[in-house]
Amino acid sequence: SVEAMEARVREIKEKLGDRLFIPGHHYQKDEVIQFADATGDSLQLAQVAAKNKQAEYIVFCGVHFMAETADILTSDEQKVILPDMRAGCSMADMAELAQVERAWPMLQELFGDTILPLTYVNSTAAIKAFVGRNGGATVTSSNADKMVAWAFTQKERIFFLPDQHLGRNTAYKLGVALEKMAVWDPLTDTLQYEGDINEVKVILWKGHCSVHENFTVKHIEHIRQTKPDMNIIVHPECSWEVVQQSDYAGSTKYIIETIRNAPAGSKWAIGTEMNLVNRLIQQHPDKEIISLNPYMCPCLTMNRIDLPHFLWALESLEQGKIINQITVPASIAADAVKALERMLARA
Ligand code: 13P
Ligand code: SF4
Repeated sequence: SVEAMEARVREIKEKLGDRLFIPGHHYQKDEVIQFADATGDSLQLAQVAAKNKQAEYIVFCGVHFMAETADILTSDEQKVILPDMRAGCSMADMAELAQVERAWPMLQELFGDTILPLTYVNSTAAIKAFVGRNGGATVTSSNADKMVAWAFTQKERIFFLPDQHLGRNTAYKLGVALEKMAVWDPLTDTLQYEGDINEVKVILWKGHCSVHENFTVKHIEHIRQTKPDMNIIVHPECSWEVVQQSDYAGSTKYIIETIRNAPAGSKWAIGTEMNLVNRLIQQHPDKEIISLNPYMCPCLTMNRIDLPHFLWALESLEQGKIINQITVPASIAADAVKALERMLARA
């Protein structure tokens, strides 16, 4: 039963004490996140992983790229475990190193040595290493403005991986016109752009989040017509059109804080992942909160970390067995850490 599984989790947590640390992303299910020692968005979780020096086992409740980041930022003795190896991220999978290595010389031929690569943390360690080797940094949705502004102090152009929407929304907010943004399509190895190529300031990788793409302008129009006094707040992984037509846009942390600080009685349609929206609905009974997409939008891979997998990982550790360890090879970690540290120094 659920109660029996929960009791076992508590027992093992108690037994392992400080040897065990459980970070949990805000998009995780309640059945798992209730046991997290730290909850946060991707940036906060990267920071807690970097700070934790004592835990022997880090059981990461989030997706694969987050566990890789934790492994890169912790010591060799600390073991990072992902309770279900199938908990990937479709966005991270949209940028493979081989594709990026084909794009980069072609872009350099077009623009010379004027481009700084940046990658959203939602990317594989191999992509972070590519960026780190080439002088660039990682970004998250809560520091993208700061990091893109920094990148423009380094080079004339940026190459933003793998989420075209976060890249476009951030650059636009900083004053770059849409006409100055081109899109690199990794499936055809071509740069999609109309206009004078010398004017390009931002090259966006053609990737997206399959959860946040489910919030559309049609959903916004429907809310505006049926509930005109409702505020619309979305994550910047949503498309540019959706962000433009919303009242507020920002990272997971920004959404949580905005709702927390909103007055009682205020009304909100939220465009982000389902588990977080449901949690905000439960935590704020004094506010009227709905999902911007009435069918809600779960992240199927985040949801793969469920109570049975989580307990299985803990029971294995209890028996001294290391299962599902995430290890980033040292050669990749050495370059990836440069990209992460450039961000953490400024975050
Ligand atoms: P943040 O946690 O940085 O807001 O990112 C959202 C996300 O999609 C995580 O996978
Ligand atoms: Fe990836 Fe989107 Fe899921 Fe985040 S919400 S893990 S970006 S698919």
